[in-house]
Amino acid sequence: MSSPRTLILNLDTGIDDALALAYALGSPEVELAGVVAGYGNVTADVAARNTLALLRLLGHPEIPVYRGADRALAAEAAFEPPAGVVRIHGENGLGGQEVSGWCYAAPPSGADFLARALRSAADDLLYVPTGPLTDLAGTLVRAPELARTLPRVTLMGGALTVPGNVTPFAEANIHNDPEAADVVLSLGLRTRVIGLDVTYQVVLTREDTALWRELGTPAGRVFADMADHYISVYEKNNPHLGGCALHDPLAVAAAIDPTLVSCLSTNLRVELGEPARGRLVCDPDRLRDAEKSAEVALTVDAPRFLDEFRARVARALAAR
Ligand code: RIB
Ligand code: CA
Repeated sequence: MSSPRTLILNLDTGIDDALALAYALGSPEVELAGVVAGYGNVTADVAARNTLALLRLLGHPEIPVYRGADRALAAEAAFEPPAGVVRIHGENGLGGQEVSGWCYAAPPSGADFLARALRSAADDLLYVPTGPLTDLAGTLVRAPELARTLPRVTLMGGALTVPGNVTPFAEANIHNDPEAADVVLSLGLRTRVIGLDVTYQVVLTREDTALWRELGTPAGRVFADMADHYISVYEKNNPHLGGCALHDPLAVAAAIDPTLVSCLSTNLRVELGEPARGRLVCDPDRLRDAEKSAEVALTVDAPRFLDEFRARVARALAAR
């Protein structure tokens, strides 16, 4: 097997971000070089603390965590999660699961780390943001040439052919910072967009989480309880799904193996005005451009992804 590719995650850690982290750690094709943890599902401080605790729980305390953005580009005050988000991810972002291993020292700056890492990125770097795109947009604004040189970025966000999950138009990660998403998508950066179009097609059930509990490891129990909390929210809000959507793990999986999804090649923008603020659209001004910078996933091989998800997450949880 060829040597593992370097992976950088940009999480708003959050339950499905935690599942994405476990997927990454259970994937032999990649080596996780660092995690930038910013606001979104929780505050930036809580996201960093959750990430540190989860990495320790999963047996990887050596992986560095950096504190990402604490607010949207245009926001004046630091982000505080609204009540609806607290209900989904729990008071601590991990469905109420207490994970020891919190670090009280302030993590170093995610902006500096990203600027360094993306400037020196090799062709095979995998950078996967699964929260608001504020950190990436900030880096691109300071170094716009990166939009032309960075390897394709696989991100979780948006909803092109289905309604949003915060408003009828907007998906949560784009909704949290539409200006940042528009910077990322309009500068010509090559992206692979894993949105609700495909993430609602991949669902985790209570049968899956029961198997994690049976592993008999601390990590298996914590992840099972955490995911059951997320599933219980879906049982109320989206009962037709029969479980919870695996938004962020699908983005990591598609970065590692793009053949899991089929995509529409296009150029994207984000609506910034009302009433459709936060909506992903094909950019009318670039519709006829021969060069298309975005690949928007519209179909997914759900059975194959779910097999991979079960195997990889079980590997990460069984180790601890
Ligand atoms: O819309 C789903 C996305 O919003 C996921 O990244 C989830 O973690 C939340 O941030
Ligand atoms: Ca997320």
